[in-house]
Amino acid sequence: MNHFEYGPEGLACEGVPLARIAAEVGTPVYVYSRATLERHFTVFRDALIAGGVVDPLVAYAVKANSNVAVLKVLGDLGAGADTVSEGEVRRALAAGIPAERIVFSGVGKVRREIAFALKAGVAEINVESEPELNLIAEVAASLGLRAKVAFRVNPDVAAGGHAKIATGKSENKFGVSFAEAARLYANASNNANLEPIGVACHIGSQITDLTPMRAAFSKMRGLVEQLLGEGLSVERLDLGGGLGVPYFNSPAPPSPAEFGAMVGEVTKGLPVKLAFEPGRVIAANAGVLVSEVIHVHERPEGRKFLVIDAAMNDLIRPAMYDAFHDIRPVTRRAKDQLGAETVYDVVGPVCETGDTFTRDRALPTFVSGDLVAFMSAGAYGSAMASEYNTRPLVPEVLVDGDRYAVIRARPTYDEMLARDLVPDWI
Ligand code: LLP
Repeated sequence: MNHFEYGPEGLACEGVPLARIAAEVGTPVYVYSRATLERHFTVFRDALIAGGVVDPLVAYAVKANSNVAVLKVLGDLGAGADTVSEGEVRRALAAGIPAERIVFSGVGKVRREIAFALKAGVAEINVESEPELNLIAEVAASLGLRAKVAFRVNPDVAAGGHAKIATGKSENKFGVSFAEAARLYANASNNANLEPIGVACHIGSQITDLTPMRAAFSKMRGLVEQLLGEGLSVERLDLGGGLGVPYFNSPAPPSPAEFGAMVGEVTKGLPVKLAFEPGRVIAANAGVLVSEVIHVHERPEGRKFLVIDAAMNDLIRPAMYDAFHDIRPVTRRAKDQLGAETVYDVVGPVCETGDTFTRDRALPTFVSGDLVAFMSAGAYGSAMASEYNTRPLVPEVLVDGDRYAVIRARPTYDEMLARDLVPDWI
């Protein structure tokens, strides 16, 4: 459930019509609902607890939507943060998320990032390979610290809607193999600068079937039992993120309740604390991208292009993963015509054919100046945006009931140009 509903002034986010935000902040603009973020986090955590998981650490995957205001909303509810760069660790800390709730993952953490995370005192550094384990040990030794590490294990299970976001097969770059996990864990236990605290897995994103998750989690349970059986200390099992959300064209994903029940069943009686790294399921349906129709360009042979002021640099998911986003009319005029009656290709102004949000989509009839909302854009939307074509980074707005605030301003052209430096020898 989310808080984007039609009211007297068209599509609204909680108590604020999107048309008002568009008029005051301009378009394109990302709009997030605080109530939806809070609801999604609470539903996810409560579902785990209802499934029998005691005191789970829900470390929100910062990469999905990394705005500090969004992180603060979640952190204030008790969320931890799953981070993959020094920048993300800094964002989580800036949002007031305590280091003991921060997990630092990622395949290629560099020395400087590891040192930063160790000094900040993060709860868990997820190790993705043997060379990385050695680097962490070396950095910890140089700082006179002991690094709490968890081994990310590649469970060799196929999952994830799109090849570009599947991570759990052995041919993917992520994690150590099951075969080497126990040896590395034992080695780390004998290193004065390492404190292995557990194991972790993450098999993909936008997963709409619990079967591969159950398979991976069962393998992880087996590994924990093996390590415990070998007399090693295991405090934590991190089961990653990946639960899918409805994008309205895909199979309905399992509910958090079904996920929580499955996790409870698979991990029953296991004497470790569980951690999770959900991103999309918290943020995707808590945000929309609002854009204005610039032109309706009709080709003589019949194809109609809806040219809008958002582009692939603002929301790259359709270009990158052929992702489907529901497109809804925002304005009242268009709301009267919610029926799908005109077939459009919806495109942005960037000079690439890939700058196409959808082809042959039946939508209400639009005219220039109408507003459209891309639904389910709260995750991997703004976080993946760029300034390609020197288009200013799209701003972000957070709604809370009847009020809203700009939580990231659109940069001015002066600010953008000031970042370029022309050496005096040109
Ligand atoms: N943990 C790890 C280690 C991850 O790599 C990811 C996502 C997550 C947690 C969060 O997964 P989620 O719950 O959000 O599915 N840009 C793509 C998605 C990439 C996901 C990368 N890893 C998209 O727009 O669909």
